[in-house]
Amino acid sequence: MKSYYNRPIMASANTTVLTGIKPTGVPHIGNFLGAISPALRRAIDFEHAYFFIADYHALNSVDDPRSLRDLTYNVAATWLAAGLDPTKIHFYRQSDISEIFELETILNTVTPKGWMNKMHAYKAQSDRNKEANKSVDSNINMGLYTYPLLMASDILIFQSDTVPVGNDQVQHVEIARDIAQRFNKKYKTDALVLPQYVLEEGIEELPGIDGRKMSKSYGNTIPLFATRAEWEQSVRKIVTDSLTHTPETFRLTVLYKIFAAVASPESTERLVADFTEGTIGWKDAKDQLVEQLIERFGSASETYAKLMADKSQIDTILDKSSNEIRTKAQATLYAAKKAIGVR
Ligand code: TRP
Repeated sequence: MKSYYNRPIMASANTTVLTGIKPTGVPHIGNFLGAISPALRRAIDFEHAYFFIADYHALNSVDDPRSLRDLTYNVAATWLAAGLDPTKIHFYRQSDISEIFELETILNTVTPKGWMNKMHAYKAQSDRNKEANKSVDSNINMGLYTYPLLMASDILIFQSDTVPVGNDQVQHVEIARDIAQRFNKKYKTDALVLPQYVLEEGIEELPGIDGRKMSKSYGNTIPLFATRAEWEQSVRKIVTDSLTHTPETFRLTVLYKIFAAVASPESTERLVADFTEGTIGWKDAKDQLVEQLIERFGSASETYAKLMADKSQIDTILDKSSNEIRTKAQATLYAAKKAIGVR
């Protein structure tokens, strides 16, 4: 182990990709198409990939232990069933890598408080408080305030150079880079690798069954892994109209948009032709969507159900990864400890 510690940390770019997944909801097809599938496709291009369940980040919004435990398994089983190959991608629980939290303590000391004041999540909440004439920090825990520091530590501990994120997380990766830079400069070291974000382009807004953006908070989602009956129940509720459609207007409907996101272009064009020629109506179109969901996600749904029926398989996978990557986390931490003089 000592010899690993002494190895120089290579800072070559684009070798290590890292993604954190907050277990705050059961993933739906919008999450799969917009985030899970693109992330899995991207990982192939990297020599090292780290995907983890950000359970300590989730604590900021999930405060019931049972929910956190269930959501962690749901999310882990979802990614595994969606095709995450744990022999190629390190897949672990954030809470299992204690080095992250130790590094965070070090990072605290090089992070100006003013930087945290400007972070979106904190700022949004403190602005709301001001507007409501409450004290600025009303209802704000340190977990929310230091959320970006924990995220910086997640990223830096594995010497990640590439972090794919949605728009809302860009600021967090930038601050991680700034913190790393400040640390390296202050201690004249290259112990921390500077990460870069890449914007993850998922599909353009997928509508939910009511036509608004598909989102857990609107309760308008279509489940990703389900049974035929569950998919039927959800698809039946997709909003439709009683207009006569041309191919152009049909392409604006909610059902079309969901269908096109799930099915192949050929099947989608067949649907457009059949519907606008009047061969089929909404009921048939919905039945066809259910068939497409089964075709695309049916066998993965069975994998998901098997994993959820025996969660020890999930634990085994997550534990194995943590054990494999611990030496790398320790190496980064050791380099940081050496740089600051506690070693
Ligand atoms: N904050 C991210 C989100 O809300 C999750 C996350 C935690 C993360 N740590 C990370 C993402 C590190 C990328 C890298 O989605």
